Amino acid sequence: MKRTSHISELREIIAMERRRGRKIALIPTMGYLHRGHLALVEQAKQTGAFIVLSIFVNSLQFGPNEDYSSYPRDLERDAHLVEVAGVDALFHPTSEEMYPRPMVTYVEVGQLDTVLCGVKRPGHFRGVATVVSKLFHIVQPDLAFFGQKDYQQYLVIQRMVSDLNLPIEVCPVPIVREEDGLALSSRNVFLTSEQRQEAKVLFQSLNEAETCLQAGERSAREIEKQLRDRISRQCHGVIDYVEVRDAGDLSEVTIIERPVLIALAVKFGSTRLIDNKVVEVDRYV
Ligand code: PAF
Repeated sequence: MKRTSHISELREIIAMERRRGRKIALIPTMGYLHRGHLALVEQAKQTGAFIVLSIFVNSLQFGPNEDYSSYPRDLERDAHLVEVAGVDALFHPTSEEMYPRPMVTYVEVGQLDTVLCGVKRPGHFRGVATVVSKLFHIVQPDLAFFGQKDYQQYLVIQRMVSDLNLPIEVCPVPIVREEDGLALSSRNVFLTSEQRQEAKVLFQSLNEAETCLQAGERSAREIEKQLRDRISRQCHGVIDYVEVRDAGDLSEVTIIERPVLIALAVKFGSTRLIDNKVVEVDRYV
């Protein structure tokens, strides 16, 4: 595996692979990798592309009171994991390499960034879209892989690529879960054992919501209410949001007739967990 923290060196590595006729796949991450990230690598490997995985904890997407400085980091462990997994090049730039001057240019994906996670995290998706856009310009990948746990992020990137005519195929990868259903996240390490136990209610309640839909419930508010009630009853987590929205554009839904995203964010102490499920109702008519 090649490894660099320099943009110029990465560009040389990629140019050589392109001359050999290889397609380039990019997997952007913030490190502290888990099986969810390795699933992105697995899916990328199936394309036969040269795989570049980036690790960069992007200050631009953290709010002033968020966990940028305490975000878990372990570059050597990550480097070992991705080498074993079959990544071809690891790019781990410093903040100075990515942001040599204060940024004055940003990418903003309107509409999609003001709902769900965008409400409590203003500027978050602007930070994500900007750094992903920079990574796209640095790597110029043919394909880019994103996990569906961050479903809203996936839609933001997909929309940015479409609006800006970027010649990149955005590939979603299904959520990877622990045995009890908790979605894998780098932030799970911050949970106490009691919070970790309780956090499984998130997946259970999403499953219950799907069961309600299967049984014919079509009111988005009713599904949200049932989800909220279950989470509040069964854990000490503080609900940030529980929402049913259109799975294609995150617009509001009242009566569920098209595929919907059932999304939630719950805070366990200072650890904020998100999870979601996309449900295609026409399967259950
Ligand atoms: O999902 C993440 O880890 C980050 O938001 C991303 C896409 C790497 C941008 O910093």
